[in-house]
Amino acid sequence: MWGYEITMHQVTLVTGATGAIGKAIAQGLAQSGVCQVVLACRNEEKARRAVWDISQATGNNQVRYELVDLSRHLSIQALAERWRGPLDILVNNAAVTPRGRQETPEGIEVQFATNVLGYFWMTQAFTEHLRQSSPARVVNVASYWAGDLDLTDLEFKRRRYRNGTAYRQSKQANRMLTVALAERLRSFDVSVNACHPGDVNSRLSNNLGFRGHDTPEEGATTPVWLATSPVGQKVTGQYFEHMREVRCRFGEDKTAVERLYEVCLSF
Ligand SMILES: NC(=O)c1ccc[n+]([C@@H]2O[C@H](COP(=O)([O-])OP(=O)(O)OC[C@H]3O[C@@H](n4cnc5c(N)ncnc54)[C@H](OP(=O)(O)O)[C@@H]3O)[C@@H](O)[C@H]2O)c1
Repeated sequence: MWGYEITMHQVTLVTGATGAIGKAIAQGLAQSGVCQVVLACRNEEKARRAVWDISQATGNNQVRYELVDLSRHLSIQALAERWRGPLDILVNNAAVTPRGRQETPEGIEVQFATNVLGYFWMTQAFTEHLRQSSPARVVNVASYWAGDLDLTDLEFKRRRYRNGTAYRQSKQANRMLTVALAERLRSFDVSVNACHPGDVNSRLSNNLGFRGHDTPEEGATTPVWLATSPVGQKVTGQYFEHMREVRCRFGEDKTAVERLYEVCLSF
């Protein structure tokens, strides 16, 4: 139905797969029947339901879940440590947009922890698994709605917290870190690319005050394409919209990219 080409048995890990776009991405990957799909979720009841729904819809019986809190470094490290076997495709997709400023138990502002560090820590923690499975790829679900990143106030300690501003900053950071990580993983034949999915009605978008006009399946099209098409392996460090490479000004400021990378390493 999706019409994408997956030529071999591949193991994929999708974060936020109980949400609107993440579930559609996981389903799109499971659709081929040759993809083992692992949903990285924090809520076991939702995770069980998503596995059931995706298996029923696709006939793929190789769909399962792992529990992880993506806003917490130790939880991600524990997932990577108990992971057995290959990992061919990591899709970083989970994100939140709380209306008021919140902190994790470690004292990190929640959007920065989940949307930015969650992607960064997952990629770092699974680098060895990806290297061993190479050629492998990382797909970072970002957004065209991005900007206002302040390297001196990433956690809104000085600026007044607005969830739209914190969200746009986090999506800019996804795109910048895609460039930083792609450079570091290039020699291992692990590609790292970012994309805008689509505007989809979800808890995340509702918190930001909009209802999307795309279906979750439409929102999943570009991430699934990046995860499965030859382009997503050949190209690295790039940003895509509507299955097309688009110039990303955020990745062009190499000094800022490296500074952000260093800040993330410090958490
Ligand atoms: N929706 C849009 O219009 C739109 C537009 C551009 C880009 N995007 C991007 O698309 C991605 C998915 O967005 P969406 O609209 O599908 O959001 P969503 O429906 O609200 O789903 C968010 C997912 O992230 C999970 N999650 C959040 N915090 C987590 C944590 N600490 N640990 C584990 N899982 C966590 C949620 O789990 P629970 O179910 O347990 O809460 C849920 O599965 C995001 O990266 C977003 O920036 C969305």
